[in-house]
Amino acid sequence: MQSLRLLPVARTLRASLPSSVLVTRRIPSSIQEKLQAACELDLEASPLSPEELRERVRGKAGLICVLTDRIDEALLDAAPDLRIVANIAVGYDNIDVRAAAGRGVVVTNTPDVLTEATAELTWALLLSAARRLGEGERVVRRGAWKGWAIDFMLGTELRGKQLGIIGRGRIGRAVAAKAPAFGMTVKFAKEDMSVDELLVSSDVISINTSLRPDTRHLIDRRALMRMKRSAILVNTARGPVVDEEALAWALKERLIAAAALDVYEREPVVQEELLAMENVVLAPHLGSATRETRTAMIDLAVSNVIEVLSGRPPLTPVPATATALRASTRGKEVRKNGAFGSE
Ligand code: GLV
Repeated sequence: MQSLRLLPVARTLRASLPSSVLVTRRIPSSIQEKLQAACELDLEASPLSPEELRERVRGKAGLICVLTDRIDEALLDAAPDLRIVANIAVGYDNIDVRAAAGRGVVVTNTPDVLTEATAELTWALLLSAARRLGEGERVVRRGAWKGWAIDFMLGTELRGKQLGIIGRGRIGRAVAAKAPAFGMTVKFAKEDMSVDELLVSSDVISINTSLRPDTRHLIDRRALMRMKRSAILVNTARGPVVDEEALAWALKERLIAAAALDVYEREPVVQEELLAMENVVLAPHLGSATRETRTAMIDLAVSNVIEVLSGRPPLTPVPATATALRASTRGKEVRKNGAFGSE
């Protein structure tokens, strides 16, 4: 497979165009050209420290960032000219959206385009945990496989089992849509039953909710104690939804059978105990990591920036921004420098 075609990192200045945009990661050359045609670019390839990011964003009208960039009040204060923060992610818990809205800064994310990729990865992890693929691969790679045996590395079949999904958004629904292919029934928390009932009755729990104050550590010791001893927990949403220490404890105590994680509380650090457990599948935050999806995410972020800096409404504002936009149409002052010029 070909990798994305990336232009060499270079700061390009186009004095004739006033709007300046900081892009905190390398982006495909074709998309870079589209952005470059509309504004002045400051491109960065490697992660910036909060101090470096604050310094680089000064004087910028647009910021295209990723989920590991923290966009807080200090950063927003350092960038009074900022009109849009375009996150290359569907989740935006890295951004203080209220603070941005209060300063008239539009925040956009990249919904829809990554739904299928993330749902596919959720199933990949679920299947890996149920059929012990990580463990099996480790046995083969270290030359410890003795050959086929009738009782060797038996896993769990999915047919006839209940998949409990926490999170009724696009990704949760896309995960559910694939369940009939594996003969699983699907129940959604809150829609079909309470979270507690879902935990008690499900054979697999898939976390597909965003990280919010009310979902932080939603899966704690108490929740894990409610789950079936045979249950598998899959998390492709955000690490802090699961209390990682509690998860390690529950797995050690055999309160649940297995876990499959793509996200962690302190990425890239993973709970030491989980690293040593055979019944845990660990992926390095790959939910949206396909060439097709990452290209579409970057393209959407760039389009949002071009729209806003051209005085048109963003394509995919996050809800807080959408509220601010609505408020602005009622005459409240949330716009800055014509950012919402079409209204
Ligand atoms: C990835 O985790 C995303 O939120 O897009």
